[in-house]
Amino acid sequence: MTHKKVIIIGGGVIGLGIGWQLAKAGAAVTIYDQSEVGRAASWAAAGMLAPLAEAHSEEPELLKLGCQSLERYSQWVTDLEADTQMSVGYRVEGTLIVGLEPDDTHQLRHLYDAQRNLQLDVNWLTGREARDIESALSPRVTAAIHCASDYQVDNRLMVTALQRAYQQHGGVVRGNSVVERVVIEDGIAIGVQTRDGFQNADTVILSAGCWSAEMAGIPEAIIPPVRPVKGQMLALQMEEGIVINSVIRTVRARYPTSVYLVPRTDGRLIVGATSEEMGFDTRLTVGGVFELLRGAWEAVPGVYELPILETWAGLRPGSRDNAPILGKTTVENLIYATGHYRNGILLTPITAYEIAKLVLTGETSEIILPFQLDRFLK
Ligand code: GLY
Repeated sequence: MTHKKVIIIGGGVIGLGIGWQLAKAGAAVTIYDQSEVGRAASWAAAGMLAPLAEAHSEEPELLKLGCQSLERYSQWVTDLEADTQMSVGYRVEGTLIVGLEPDDTHQLRHLYDAQRNLQLDVNWLTGREARDIESALSPRVTAAIHCASDYQVDNRLMVTALQRAYQQHGGVVRGNSVVERVVIEDGIAIGVQTRDGFQNADTVILSAGCWSAEMAGIPEAIIPPVRPVKGQMLALQMEEGIVINSVIRTVRARYPTSVYLVPRTDGRLIVGATSEEMGFDTRLTVGGVFELLRGAWEAVPGVYELPILETWAGLRPGSRDNAPILGKTTVENLIYATGHYRNGILLTPITAYEIAKLVLTGETSEIILPFQLDRFLK
């Protein structure tokens, strides 16, 4: 058991996940969030656990990290559900990446070859074979890649479960509570300044997503290079005859937006997402919603009939190289766990386990070594 006092700035799945692990180990943890915990990127996400579908051959370290986190997901979910007695909607039906016309098929083939070069477990399907798995797919689907081990979790249920598990182990949540600055003395983080005064800590963890670069008190040289990347999203209600079970992603060579459709156990069908550099603007636009609806309708024509339940836009915390920023900084006792960009839900277990281990032992594991802030400082 540890008696460390830890302050976490940012109560998304990353902050809550680390907090849960540390509170379980006996640490006295307080999470500060500028609004309600878990209601930013963690709430806006689609919950895809898709290192294969989102794999880029030029990002091999990130792919490896994603695969390692996915390997730990089943245990993570088992522990979280046991701690909270609630389901987090973990589903293992896999992902189909589909193309709709010859240009798309070429792009799909290029992606498939890259995935095979990375020795990923993917299969090439004809349009008919794809429709055998998901009958609601359009007859226009020309080909598909089946990523059988790309799963999903219901990220909103996971937020609720993580908050419950964290608090059950004694973790403290300070929602709607702004940290005014990190307090650093002689190169050592000693706590944070809040509206209620100074709060001391043995370790301060910054997991404030796309707001991480705005955090006052951090020396300019080590401000994490993280910015918001907007994603517009929709939720539809699946109805009889228009039900899908796999995650479906489109490849669209001629259009600006590829879409994904993520079926939830409760019948919601999440459709996302645009990718826009618009600062902290979270307004929905006609163009954004139009592209999502067009993409969804082209892949699964039956969505035309479905009711729209919800629309929203979230802000992904994008780092300069798309990979998260994890681990120690040049300020002693100040640790970063931010910049998870498109993979925050996928990378939650590995981030939580490895950052908690770092706090408890002082040792940086081989797994997170390539993701330290110092890669940007060289
Ligand atoms: N990972 C899905 C997205 O960022 O839209």
